[in-house]
Amino acid sequence: MTVYAQELKAIAQSMVTRGKGLLAIDESNGTCNNRFEKLGIPTTEENRRAYRELLLTTPNLANYISGLILFDETIRQTTKEGKPFAQVIANLGMIPGIKVDTGAKDLAGHQGEKVTEGLDNLRDRIAEYYKMGARFAKWRAVITIGNKIPSDACMLANAHALARYAVLCQEGGLVPIVEPEVLIDGEHTLEQSFEVTDQTLHSVFNQLHTQGIEYDQMVLKPSMVIAGQESSHQSSIDAVAEATVKCLLKNVPATVTGIAFLSGGQSNEQASAHLNLMNERFYDQCPWPITFSYGRAIQQPALDYWQGDSNRVAEAQKRLLHRAKCNSLASLGKYNPDVERELGYG
Ligand code: 13P
Repeated sequence: MTVYAQELKAIAQSMVTRGKGLLAIDESNGTCNNRFEKLGIPTTEENRRAYRELLLTTPNLANYISGLILFDETIRQTTKEGKPFAQVIANLGMIPGIKVDTGAKDLAGHQGEKVTEGLDNLRDRIAEYYKMGARFAKWRAVITIGNKIPSDACMLANAHALARYAVLCQEGGLVPIVEPEVLIDGEHTLEQSFEVTDQTLHSVFNQLHTQGIEYDQMVLKPSMVIAGQESSHQSSIDAVAEATVKCLLKNVPATVTGIAFLSGGQSNEQASAHLNLMNERFYDQCPWPITFSYGRAIQQPALDYWQGDSNRVAEAQKRLLHRAKCNSLASLGKYNPDVERELGYG
């Protein structure tokens, strides 16, 4: 137990409040620039700032979004009027969070596999982010399915780093989002995805336990159990919902505050449909709330529309709000494809 225990419990619960989820806008500069380049948007610091301002000042966003995950550059930025983003988010009734890992790097001795870095000076960085207003953090580990991978070495190294990060966060007053992402890239089947996700979660919770995590002060951000994007056997919505919940029930302690999925390259509609079915069919069987912490599956229509043009901000914000609302409904098991059309953007 840390001095922050009560505060951390309350924040973690607010992050997964029923009907709300998280919005990830924590792309590193490299990833953000790649997405801009694809649309011909100039990759300047000012454009990254303007885009994040558009996202986080979307009117009524707090109806569906409990918190936003920022990147280091972003938490140091301000609105055009000079108000720090973290303060703006808090004033709008949402919780500011921060990505604290420094990226997935090649794992030595293990071709094709990655290990996430960022533990150096993490205690000091957490203290700085806390002062800036952040109240939760994120660390993403990446597990790739392929020929003879993932290796035990990759799973163990990533799980260990996640656990070290998570306990440091709790010591410093930030709720850790623990994100082990099993990538959707590849030709693997849903069954292979199940097996790897099962091993990954097992390893992560083993390490969290060993390092002394408080489960009721953390949020798990897993990927869904789903066939690889290049697999010839694409999964049905039912199969994904069923396999994912089964895998979570097998591995995630009941006292974990909540589960908030990443979208991981699923289409916007798929990400909503999968989340919806899990809540519609399995809500009563799950000890934790199941919601979203999506990046692309909420942002993409807004980014596509904006194109770096200040005259397109209001309409881009409507598109963002629409996806936030669809996923809020999905977290309640109340989403269906008609909602997409009713809201006018389907
Ligand atoms: P996606 O939903 O785009 O996968 O992003 C979520 C995230 O935060 C990845 O770390």
